[in-house]
Amino acid sequence: MKSNIRIAVAALVTCTVVLILYSNLFLKDVNTSVDVTWSKTTTKPKVGVLPQQQPTAEAPKANPITKPRLRRYVPRPVISPIKFSPEFRRTIPQNSGFWNRKFHHSLKQLDLGNVSHLNSSTESSESLQANIPDLNSYSALYHQFLHSMHFRTPDLLINQPNKCRSNGQPERVTLLLGIKSVARNFEERQAIRETWGQEGLTGDGLLVRRVFLLGTLPSDVPDLRALMAFEAQQHGDVLMWDFKDTFYNLTLKDHMFLEWTLQHCSQASFIFKGDDDVFVNPGAVLRYVKSLTPDKASKLYAGQIIYQASPHRSTSVKYYIPQSFYDGPYPPYAGGGGFLFSGALLPSLYSVTWIIPFYPIDDVYTGMCFHALGVEPEKHPGFQTFDIREQDRENPCVYRDLLLVHRRSPQQALRLWRSMKSPLLTC
Ligand SMILES: *[C@@H]1O[C@H](CO)[C@@H](O)[C@H](O)[C@H]1NC(C)=O
Ligand SMILES: *[C@@H]1O[C@H](CO)[C@@H](O)[C@H](O)[C@H]1NC(C)=O
Ligand SMILES: *[C@@H]1O[C@H](CO)[C@@H](O)[C@H](O)[C@H]1NC(C)=O
Repeated sequence: MKSNIRIAVAALVTCTVVLILYSNLFLKDVNTSVDVTWSKTTTKPKVGVLPQQQPTAEAPKANPITKPRLRRYVPRPVISPIKFSPEFRRTIPQNSGFWNRKFHHSLKQLDLGNVSHLNSSTESSESLQANIPDLNSYSALYHQFLHSMHFRTPDLLINQPNKCRSNGQPERVTLLLGIKSVARNFEERQAIRETWGQEGLTGDGLLVRRVFLLGTLPSDVPDLRALMAFEAQQHGDVLMWDFKDTFYNLTLKDHMFLEWTLQHCSQASFIFKGDDDVFVNPGAVLRYVKSLTPDKASKLYAGQIIYQASPHRSTSVKYYIPQSFYDGPYPPYAGGGGFLFSGALLPSLYSVTWIIPFYPIDDVYTGMCFHALGVEPEKHPGFQTFDIREQDRENPCVYRDLLLVHRRSPQQALRLWRSMKSPLLTC
């Protein structure tokens, strides 16, 4: 049923795009108005270098969206000096798992002032074989994760360099929304644009900005690149990196979002990061962040906090972690459906993501990073990542004091938004 709707939507969007492209084809080069870069090549430029335009083999006569020019942009990693919480170090057992050993090795190098191990190399099969006794029992997806777990420098294919600027000057952004999405979720993104993710100034002068965070599609699905380029140009809110958009790569997505924000929106006071299937009450979020003391506002990590969790050991669970990969407790962490943090933490948070090895579960990883910085998570009852009571779900009044609810379909989000905004609403 759901896939039928998706197909119908995709067909509709395709027709629209074809029509628009057809009418625009001879008028302008779409690449001039939006920073879109596509690349099929595998050779990577050095990190920190703004690469030159690649010569293209294709004739430039072709449709500019489906045969785009190759333009690459790789940001420079910045490592700011950080103090690693000794308590966090103590909570991770030393030798029990592959990840544990990687983690402690990385910290030891950091103690020595050696950051040359922070690189983007792949983990060799020999090293994996030697370090993980039951490697053969790992799933194919785990193997993929292990081989690319040090990869931190995918190209940025679609950028929005002016997202947080006006007239060339940085804007005073109160809240930046970073929403994890995947290419095929056109409907989810559009519902968010029309409802809780609206950009602009609020009545009391607070500025909200929005970006969707995407990787690329696997090769066995229809080619949505032209649609994505069109969407990015139309709405100016799509960021896309050149990595496979899979569950185990969400940590990489998080890292890239931090990098992008540091580079293009570091003045944002607060950052929301969440999924595209949640419903957020932006009014309540803004009221909350405005109510914080300056001290709290500068080191906020708030959401629905999961305490005393530990790895799932059943292979049938999505969050399964093999014992030989990681052994130990999880730090308290905010459910990945959506959480808030202070823009002031961006530099140290980003640096920490270079030091702590990537973990297959992104919200656990984020919890580790904040723990490493000694930032206490702030539990807020308005974050309902496991949803609210069934009988309350259609009642707009219940949402007035909630910050986030998981999960809502695009249709539910629209309905809810309309009823919350209705002048007839009395609570
Ligand atoms: C620094 O790290 C690199 C890569 O891990 C390693 O080869 C080198 O021996 C380290 N240097 C010191 C002084 O430990
Ligand atoms: C890059 O990292 C890998 C894995 O941590 C390490 O084995 C390798 O020596 C590093 N390479 C350089 C040039 O530092
Ligand atoms: C993550 O993305 C990289 C780059 O596309 C890819 O090589 C790797 O296999 C992906 N990892 C997973 C677990 O999908």
